[in-house]
Amino acid sequence: MNGVVSMTELVLCLAEIADLVNPLLSDHHKRVAGIAYNLCSELGLPPSEQADVTFAGMLHDVGAISIDERLDALRFDFEEGYGHSEKGWALLSTYKPFAGIASIVRFHHTPWDYGRCSGKDCGSIPLGSHILNLADRIAVSVKPGMGILEQAVEVRRKVSGARGKTFLPELVDVFLEISEKEYFWLDIESASLEGILKAEPFRRGYTLGDEDLLELVKLFGRIIDFRSRFTATHSSGVAAVAEVLAKNAGFGKEECSMMGAAGYIHDLGKLAVPAEILEKPSGLTKQEYSLIKTHSYFTDRVLRGVKGFETIREWGALHHERLDGKGYPFHLEAEQLSTGSRIMAVADVFVALTEDRPYRRGLSPERTLKVIREMVRSGALDSEIVSMLDDLYHDINDIRAHAQYAAEREYRDFACLFG
Ligand SMILES: [Fe+2]
Ligand SMILES: [Fe+2]
Ligand SMILES: [Fe+2]
Repeated sequence: MNGVVSMTELVLCLAEIADLVNPLLSDHHKRVAGIAYNLCSELGLPPSEQADVTFAGMLHDVGAISIDERLDALRFDFEEGYGHSEKGWALLSTYKPFAGIASIVRFHHTPWDYGRCSGKDCGSIPLGSHILNLADRIAVSVKPGMGILEQAVEVRRKVSGARGKTFLPELVDVFLEISEKEYFWLDIESASLEGILKAEPFRRGYTLGDEDLLELVKLFGRIIDFRSRFTATHSSGVAAVAEVLAKNAGFGKEECSMMGAAGYIHDLGKLAVPAEILEKPSGLTKQEYSLIKTHSYFTDRVLRGVKGFETIREWGALHHERLDGKGYPFHLEAEQLSTGSRIMAVADVFVALTEDRPYRRGLSPERTLKVIREMVRSGALDSEIVSMLDDLYHDINDIRAHAQYAAEREYRDFACLFG
């Protein structure tokens, strides 16, 4: 599609963005992944198991949708019933290669003795979940803004106290051994944490072919969209419309798939916007509106670290730029906006207008086209791409409706699980 893309680099982007939603989360996903990785190495687990647990660390709270859910889980004694771990499992297991990772995430808040004493078969809880549970609780015990080495004694005391209750006893023993060494603590806060996560065992065998890449970005789309019923089908609709517009603009097969991929990730930065704001029923404050506007900036900035993903990033991240230079966040001029970015801008506006929002119903086809034509006149959107949409309106609208209907069914299955 666009060269070979590293799964680690892409998943780390999601981890990073999901933690930008609140400053108290300070790189929580990356820290948990780093701790889990060091525990796995000390345990001598095979590379593929180390990788699964580490990826599970990077993704473990993707099912925590509200700010409260994220912040509640920062308490050391947090215990959860049927909550974000289950939602994370439901989301992640929709991407087949993540089946093992999804199971690890599912039980990451299940205490060790709860698993044993409730009559459940303790063996059905993967070792990776126990490792993730411990890594997660170590990460939340480290107080930001205080020297990390000075905190080691207190964290060791807390973890020892939960040996055989919250945590698998043998794992606590491994932690007590490894946590004697300064590197274990320094890695948690180190700027090189990302480098460690990108290193072995992940470099080999974790590159994405075209099909896997497309399926992974579809998962990203679900993680982005399912945070609100109002956006639940948005990225699927944008991906389908962008792809068909690209085809009609003469893009080759491969480029059309890339356009679809860009559609799935164009709103990745929305993960940094609290779901409560996305769901707000009426008038956003100036501050909330500014916060929403940051999303395309974060899509661009975070994805810049992903090699081989440059074109997809560009097409996705520039969807709020305008030809007259009045868009955001870069205020690019027409000559700086490629056909791919222009297509994405049209696809995004088209799909957004037809959808219900917390503050208005979706517009009719006639009104949608009227608004889009007006946006051409005002210098926002590309006239040729909009003419294409105009000419093929019914076909493209059917494709949009079909894609969003399929996504709506997936969303309902997901939402049904949680009442
Ligand atoms: Fe969690
Ligand atoms: Fe957007
Ligand atoms: Fe969008």
